[in-house]
Amino acid sequence: MHKIRIQGGKALNGDIQVSGAKNAALPLLAASLLTDEELVLCNVPDLSDINTMIKLLTHLGVHVFREGRSTIRLKASNITNTTAIYDLVKQMRAGIGVLGPLLARCGEAKVSSPGGCAIGSRPIDLHIEAMKALGATIELDNGYIVAKAPPKGLKGAEIVFKFVTVMGTENALMAAVLAKGESVIINAAREPEVIDLAKCLVSMGADIEGIGTDKIKVKGKSKLHKAKHTVIADRIEAGTFAMVSAITGGSVRLIGAKLEHLNSVALTLAQVGMQLIEEDLSDGQKALKVQVQSPLKGVDITTKPYPGFPTDLQAQFMALMSVSEGASMIAETIFENRFMHVPELNRMGANITVQGSNALVRGTVCLTGAPVMATDLRASSSLVMAGLAAKGETVIDRVYHLDRGYENLVEKLSRIGADIQRIRDS
Ligand code: UD1
Repeated sequence: MHKIRIQGGKALNGDIQVSGAKNAALPLLAASLLTDEELVLCNVPDLSDINTMIKLLTHLGVHVFREGRSTIRLKASNITNTTAIYDLVKQMRAGIGVLGPLLARCGEAKVSSPGGCAIGSRPIDLHIEAMKALGATIELDNGYIVAKAPPKGLKGAEIVFKFVTVMGTENALMAAVLAKGESVIINAAREPEVIDLAKCLVSMGADIEGIGTDKIKVKGKSKLHKAKHTVIADRIEAGTFAMVSAITGGSVRLIGAKLEHLNSVALTLAQVGMQLIEEDLSDGQKALKVQVQSPLKGVDITTKPYPGFPTDLQAQFMALMSVSEGASMIAETIFENRFMHVPELNRMGANITVQGSNALVRGTVCLTGAPVMATDLRASSSLVMAGLAAKGETVIDRVYHLDRGYENLVEKLSRIGADIQRIRDS
C-alpha cells in the first residue's frame, strides 16, 4: 500500500492541466452499451474508477481499446452477459450506471446492489423507480437487482424524481433514449456531467430536449449509432486546485477549466478573497487564473445539487476555512456522513466541531503536519491541501482513495513546487 508524504509550507505557483471529469467519463463509458457501433471517448482521465468501469464493460462483452493515454474506443457489437457482478460494483458505485443501458438494449439486467459506502447509505431506490416507470419489473435476488423489460421493450413514460439524483437521472436518460415513445424526466439533475452525457447521446442519434434543465424530454429511438465525444474538464479537480492555490498562498493557473461549471463555487471563493479569472490561451484552450488576496475570510456554505455548492468540494473548502480568518458554518445536505475528514483535520490543528449535518470551523493561524488517514475520495484531497499548508511533515495513509479520482495528483503538485512524494508502506 502507498502513502503520500508532504513537507508543507511552500507556496505553489504555475500551470496545472485539468484532467477530464471522472463523473462525466463513467456514465459516458456505460453509454457505449447503447449501440452496436463504435463510441470513441477522448480526454478520459486515467483513474482506478475508470479502469474498474472498463473491467465491468469488458465483462459484459464490450470490446475496449485504449489509444494513447486518454482516448478510449468502445464497441458493444455483441453484449454477451447482462450481469454486473458484486466484485466490480462494490469497488465503484458508478457500476449501477450500466442498469439503464443494459435494460434498454438487451431487455434485461442483473446488477449487484452497490450497498453503502463511507459517506453514507447511498440507496438506489430512485434508479429502481425510474426503471419501473419505463415498464421494467424489478426483483431483488441475493443482493442483485434483477430487472426485466416488457416483451416489446421499455415504454416512454413520465419519470418524477422526488429529489435530485445525478446517476439516477443518467440511468433514466440512458434507458429512455431506446424506449418506445416519449419520456419526460422531471426534477432531473442539471450537473455539467449530466449535460455532457446528454450531448454525447444526441451525437449518437438520440432525440433529447431540455438538456441542462430540470425537465428533460426524450423521444425514444430504435437504434443509436457511432459517435466521437470529448469528456468535459473536471470541475471538482479544478475547484480543488484553486483552493490549493489559496491555502498555500500561491498563484495557480488551471488549464482547461471552465468558469461556467464553477459559478457558485467562484462566487463563494470571491467572498473568501479569491478571484477566478478566465483566460483564452493561444492554443484555443480556456484557463482560469486564481488570484488570492490574504487574509482569507471565513464564509458559510450549504452543499446543494448543481448549480449550488457541490458536496464533492465540501471537504476541500473545510480545509481552506480551517486557515481562514473568522468562522465558517458548513452545512452538508447531500450525504449524511460526509465529515470523516474532520477528526483528521483537527489532528493537524484545525478547530472544527460537528453537530449533525453542520460543521463549525474556527480559523486558526497555522496547521501542523501529522500522520493522517484518508477515508474517502474528497476527504483525501482535503488532507493533501492541509498537508501542503501545514508546518512540517504530513503522511497520508490509504491513498488508494485519491487514485480513484485525481489523475497524477502527486506529479501535478510537484510540478508547481510542492514537496510531495508517494512512498511505499514499510
Ligand atoms: C454523484 C457523483 C458524486 C457526487 C453526487 C452528488 C458520480 C459517479 N458520482 O453520485 O461524486 O457526490 O453525485 O453530487 O457521478 N439517493 C437516494 N436514492 C437513490 C439515489 C440517490 O436516496 O436512488 C440520495 C443519495 O443517498 C444522496 C442524494 O440522493 O443523499 C444525491 O445522490 P446522487 O445525486 O444520486 O449521487 P450519485 O449520483 O450517487
